Amino acid sequence: MQLAVALLCLLSISGELLMPLCEGCVQADKRALLDIHIQLSTLPHIDWDRSDWDWGDGHCCQWLGVTCSNSRPARVTGLNLLAFVPSPWLLNATMFLSFQELQTLTLSLNIKGCIPGAVFFFGKLDPNYSQFFFANQLCCHGYPSFFSSTNYFVLPSPLLLQHFRLCFNVWSKLRKLRSLDLSGNILSADSIRSLVAVSSLRCLSISSNDLTSPVAIQHLSTMKLDTLDLSDNAFNGTLPTDICNMENLEELYLLSSTLFGELPSCIGNLTSLRILDLSNNLFTIKFPSLSFAHLTSLVKLSLSNNNLEGVLFLGSLSNSSQLTHLDLSSSGNHFQLETVTSTISLSAQLQVMVLPNCNLNGNSAVILSFLSHQHALEAVDISNNNLNGHFPSWLIEKNVNLSHLNLQGNSFSGILPLPFKLSKLPTGINITFPNLYYVNLSRNSFQGIFPSGLHYIDSLTFLDLSNNNFFDNIVSAFNGSKSNIRSLFLSGNNFYGSFPQDILLASTYHLLLNDNQITGEIPDNICLGQQLTLLDVSSNKLTGSLPTCIHALENIAILNLRGNSLGGPIPLELCHLKNLVFLDMSKNSLSGPVQCLPSLQYLHLSENRLNGTFPFPLSWGTGTYTMDLRQNQFSGILPELMHKSFPKLKILLLEGNMFEGLIPNDICHLRYLRLLDLSHNKLSGQLPSCLSHMGLDGDLYNFLYNDSDTSVVMNDTDGYAGSVVGSSPVPEFFIGPDQEEFMTKSRQDKYKGNILSYMSGLDFSSNQLEGYIPKSIGDMKWLRALNFSNNRFHGPIPGSLSHLSNLETLDLSHNNLTGQIPQELVELHSLEVFSVAYNNLSGPTLGRNGQFITFDESSYAGNPYLCGPPLLKSCFDAPLIPQPKEDEDDSKLGNLALFSFSVLCYMIGFWTSLVVLYFKRSWRWSWFSAVDRLGDILMVRSALYMTRFNRTD
Ligand SMILES: *[C@@H]1O[C@H](CO)[C@@H](O)[C@H](O)[C@H]1NC(C)=O
Ligand SMILES: *[C@@H]1O[C@H](CO)[C@@H](O)[C@H](O)[C@H]1NC(C)=O
Ligand SMILES: *[C@@H]1O[C@H](CO)[C@@H](O)[C@H](O)[C@H]1NC(C)=O
Ligand SMILES: *[C@@H]1O[C@H](CO)[C@@H](O)[C@H](O)[C@H]1NC(C)=O
Ligand SMILES: *[C@@H]1O[C@H](CO)[C@@H](O)[C@H](O)[C@H]1NC(C)=O
Repeated sequence: MQLAVALLCLLSISGELLMPLCEGCVQADKRALLDIHIQLSTLPHIDWDRSDWDWGDGHCCQWLGVTCSNSRPARVTGLNLLAFVPSPWLLNATMFLSFQELQTLTLSLNIKGCIPGAVFFFGKLDPNYSQFFFANQLCCHGYPSFFSSTNYFVLPSPLLLQHFRLCFNVWSKLRKLRSLDLSGNILSADSIRSLVAVSSLRCLSISSNDLTSPVAIQHLSTMKLDTLDLSDNAFNGTLPTDICNMENLEELYLLSSTLFGELPSCIGNLTSLRILDLSNNLFTIKFPSLSFAHLTSLVKLSLSNNNLEGVLFLGSLSNSSQLTHLDLSSSGNHFQLETVTSTISLSAQLQVMVLPNCNLNGNSAVILSFLSHQHALEAVDISNNNLNGHFPSWLIEKNVNLSHLNLQGNSFSGILPLPFKLSKLPTGINITFPNLYYVNLSRNSFQGIFPSGLHYIDSLTFLDLSNNNFFDNIVSAFNGSKSNIRSLFLSGNNFYGSFPQDILLASTYHLLLNDNQITGEIPDNICLGQQLTLLDVSSNKLTGSLPTCIHALENIAILNLRGNSLGGPIPLELCHLKNLVFLDMSKNSLSGPVQCLPSLQYLHLSENRLNGTFPFPLSWGTGTYTMDLRQNQFSGILPELMHKSFPKLKILLLEGNMFEGLIPNDICHLRYLRLLDLSHNKLSGQLPSCLSHMGLDGDLYNFLYNDSDTSVVMNDTDGYAGSVVGSSPVPEFFIGPDQEEFMTKSRQDKYKGNILSYMSGLDFSSNQLEGYIPKSIGDMKWLRALNFSNNRFHGPIPGSLSHLSNLETLDLSHNNLTGQIPQELVELHSLEVFSVAYNNLSGPTLGRNGQFITFDESSYAGNPYLCGPPLLKSCFDAPLIPQPKEDEDDSKLGNLALFSFSVLCYMIGFWTSLVVLYFKRSWRWSWFSAVDRLGDILMVRSALYMTRFNRTD
């Protein structure tokens, strides 16, 4: 048959009649398609999504994005144009009017609005007409800059508003157009309004646009739509009740659209609704004033991540017999889902049941008995509900289609329910659960041995058993394991024995074994993990050195070996790990020089026995943010050119080494450096005069990891609520809100550096630094902590320190500072720790003014010539801010006073020094409570750009 058509085509080259058959669509449609192609091709830098965007050859019905009718001649019925256009532009809406049979139109082309064809004028901007041009106050969102920057659209102002209101309305001539998808553009409410005229439309998507006002919803609600998708906009307002006029509405998607306020209860009157997805907004949804009892057609109800309030009785959904997808979770604590008290139960068979943090049955810990009637469940998430007791194994047994089970953050105890407890090879377990791919039992109190039955579930790719009480020899648990698990989290249990040889298969991406009792060396087998991106074995009892084959882990991004007893040098091979982002080997027994440093972003090597000179990374200009070398034996001078190697350095911690010589001037060029700890070294000489230039750009600096090269990361269940769990073949936990965090919230703390962007300070204490404290330090307004104690600084305390309005800690003790304490320092309202003890300061203290009422005499101890409260020595009747001359008199008088109080001072001296120590400790605490955690810290935000999931079936 096809051959025959081809022959006919060949024979009748000029046969107009047969052309449509050969060309696929009628000439008129083909011409229009080519015209569209030409018009779009003139757009600057258009980058067609697919290389096969190649209209012009062959049957036009087979061109990419074109759908035709089955009739002869074929007419174009569907058009799907998706491409990335870098600059926003106006669509020529007229160019689609030839497609008389068009039913479905999908356009995602960075469209900013449309032009209806001939209605407006072209020309150069003419100063004579300037009063008619797009004046800011006249125009809708975003337009003025666009027009004024391109100079070639000129439109008299009276036509302007009309222009936007008469925009897409030309499509009312496309009488068959039923489905229009304009998602992923940057359309504003004004151009959207013109869609109202397209009366044939039934299905409309304007998700992911630039809608910033709910007025757009108001306009659209006059249409007779059955499907409306407005998700991913930034409405920043309340949902207009007009939406309740859309009585034909079957599917309403409003997820992630920044809507707030109380959800209008008239939503419960939209009786045709099958799908209602309001997740990820700021709605206040009050039960029982909102009732879904009339929504008998409901299939999917998703309200998660809003503020749910009151009690929802599950029985109130009993009329919705087709419900398969129930997705609730409250961001607040005022919601309760009641499943037991009502006599009516759910008549539906749920497939997806997502109920995290729902205060199930008032935290009564009652296992959900209604579940015993459910046998079609595919995804179950009842995390964070305070449920306890033994987990009901029947839930797993009855629901053989289960793919996703999340029990995280409850108090389930006992050994794992069947069938997981089987330790021998269970026949057919992989057939029993053909779909199970995600099991999260973390943060419960499960006990017993590792459920090795899980090894045999071929579909299982994610297993999180962390933070339970499992107790097992990890070697035997994984002996001969052939599982397909990609993400295995066993941290925070009592697994013991040596590092399991079989645990890492070629398919493993993430392996967390931290906080267990694993002993012995890290075996060479680990190097088989070529897909591995995350390995955390911190806080175990591992010994020996890192295997030199480590370079084989070519995808590894996060390597955490902190808190073991690993020895030997850091292997040179580590340098070959090109994708390494985070390396923590602190709190081990590593020794020798660091010969080679990979170009990573977060480096933690503290508390080892490393020596040699300051280590430099393999390549210059790398994106290292954090470098922590504290408490090692590094020596030599601090190098110049640090800023060439670490231009993005944010945190540099060198405390407790043996660095000597001057603090290099180069440090001033580290524009982002805001946490610098050089304490307890042998640095000498004066401070660089340019020191205040350091950290100048810190505020502009985005302390987030965002590098698409190393973005093979995962997202845990926290991210999946509200997405399309259940039927999609994609592993859903890779889909989620656009800001996918690297790990679950509890683990995020371990790898993130948020808190560090808040911490900022200089600690130069316990060195041999000398000279004046530069006045310009007062310009480093970002400082929260300043510790210059235990050095040899002399001269006065600069009054400019009073400009450091964020300062919480100021320690200048144990130096040779002289002169008076600048009274301006009382302006430091945030100060919590303050010491100028053990200097040669004279004159009045800062008294009891402002914040200083909290500091006692220990802050001033060891300065014989100071007087005034809280010191017992009074300044007699000297004025608060004495003149210099009086000052001298004062100190003489003070001298006398000193002698008369010397006995007393001696008595309190012992105690004050203790108090100083105490304060210094609390100072240390406020500083290092942040820094100590640093070892565990990394903020990695997934660069998985949002996989926008397709909600049209
Ligand atoms: C819009 O498209 C129509 C039909 O293709 C064409 O005639 C018209 O010139 C176009 N207008 C602009 C401004 O490009
Ligand atoms: C949201 O609206 C309020 C006023 O209602 C306004 O102050 C605020 O700037 C808006 N936020 C955004 C992000 O547009
Ligand atoms: C729902 O519809 C009923 C009648 O159909 C009406 O009485 C009621 O006021 C409506 N509820 C809301 C909240 O609009
Ligand atoms: C199930 O597991 C058994 C034993 O591991 C294996 O022989 C069998 O092929 C597996 N079946 C399927 C469907 O994967
Ligand atoms: C570094 O330490 C090793 C022993 O761990 C020692 O042999 C070597 O001499 C030290 N090097 C320096 C420069 O101190």
